[in-house]
Amino acid sequence: MTDLAGGRRVLVLNGPNLGRLGSREPDVYGAMTFADLAADCEKTGAELGLAVEVRQTDDESELVGWLHEAADTKTPVVLNPAAFTHYSYALRDACAQRTAPLIEIHISNPAAREEFRHTSVVAAVATGTIAGFGADSYRLALRALTTLAQ
Ligand code: DQA
Repeated sequence: MTDLAGGRRVLVLNGPNLGRLGSREPDVYGAMTFADLAADCEKTGAELGLAVEVRQTDDESELVGWLHEAADTKTPVVLNPAAFTHYSYALRDACAQRTAPLIEIHISNPAAREEFRHTSVVAAVATGTIAGFGADSYRLALRALTTLAQ
């Protein structure tokens, strides 16, 4: 699906607590606010010819609904599932319905953090995972989509 400007539409979906970037544990997640991050994703998308729409929710059911929307419209997804990564089978089942590439991303490197973060229930149904590069994780995922989502 393309938007009116002709760019390939991409949803960048973010799970709980990511709306608090900037004030949330800046030593782990950096100083950028969620608004900064969203603007950066849109700018990167425009450079790559993608029409990027960034959303964030703390609500599992809303996130599942957005993944259904992406599946129904064959829209590629960049997904930071946040804490849902580690335990939400509902989110995993929604990701498994994808009809276009879906890249799991993390700002931090969960593998280098607490034990409970070492499990991702989403990873096996994602196209691939990018983690540990700060805001660049989003940029790298958008770039990867340009070759995946033809
Ligand atoms: C995160 C890592 C998760 O473990 C954590 O629960 C988050 C953010 C990241 O982007 O590094 O909320 O997904």
